[in-house]
Amino acid sequence: MAAFEWTDALAVGVDAIDGDHKILIDQINMLSDAIESGIDDTLVASVINVLIDYTVYHFDRERQMMATTNFADSVRHLKEHDIMVAKVQAMQSAYTRGNGDLDEMFKFLKVWLTQHIMKSDQAFAAHIKATGGAKLVPPPEARGAVDWRNLSVLVVDDQFNFRSLMRNILNTFGVTQIQEARDGMEAFERLGTTPADVILVDDEMQPCDGLSFTRMVRGTKSPSPKAVVILMPSREITREYVKEATEAGVHDLMIKPLAPKTVRARIEHHLTNPVPFRMVDDRLIPVRRAPAPAAQAARPGMV
Ligand SMILES: [Fe+2]
Ligand SMILES: [Fe+2]
Repeated sequence: MAAFEWTDALAVGVDAIDGDHKILIDQINMLSDAIESGIDDTLVASVINVLIDYTVYHFDRERQMMATTNFADSVRHLKEHDIMVAKVQAMQSAYTRGNGDLDEMFKFLKVWLTQHIMKSDQAFAAHIKATGGAKLVPPPEARGAVDWRNLSVLVVDDQFNFRSLMRNILNTFGVTQIQEARDGMEAFERLGTTPADVILVDDEMQPCDGLSFTRMVRGTKSPSPKAVVILMPSREITREYVKEATEAGVHDLMIKPLAPKTVRARIEHHLTNPVPFRMVDDRLIPVRRAPAPAAQAARPGMV
């Protein structure tokens, strides 16, 4: 059972707001799962990044809806948002410094969101309904150069929690065609029947790790398209490892903990700036170029 259950009492009756709140509750539950698993601090840090990113996006959506409906109580309501973000960011900083209390963070998020939804967001939703609806900023998938809705992504990771995290991140961009595999071999078999446009593959897996998998995908006997974009989240990125990954056929590495804006920017960059491939040994590998630029305004809804 999830640690934080969605109930009808939390529904405010405005689809966009309820949808965002459900995503936030999912993310708070991912934090609880990550704390319980206790095996990977980059997982916890990634989940916190995702949670803060989506919270800021959601609050911005509410701010825009308040502006388009002339909501009289907007200053007080937005102040509540600001205080919450500042508090969670302070908890994130404490965690990064090594003296954070994750249980306290989970409890704070659960209590704050429940109370805010049931009082402040319910009042705002009543105003929206009374005034005939709010104008919404287009969802992330409706803008930008990538057709997120029709993008097929394969997530390869031996940790269930990381696969869930990646799925959640991709969902916030509007990606719905997501496949998962638990190691390189399973992923390679999956590609034989269902091609992917983008592969997000973990580096450390057993029995077939990310680099071995990538070499198979880039091999001349591979059934999968050589042009598929392969991105690799990694705990450590050294010059030697970048060289090895490049020679295997990885497009790009992403340092853990992950942030949604980085994942989005890297996918967008490589899909919209395809590189040529060259033959090395028995593999076709992408020609590496300068690293992708830092993600600017790449947070959901802020393209
Ligand atoms: Fe809200
Ligand atoms: Fe709110």
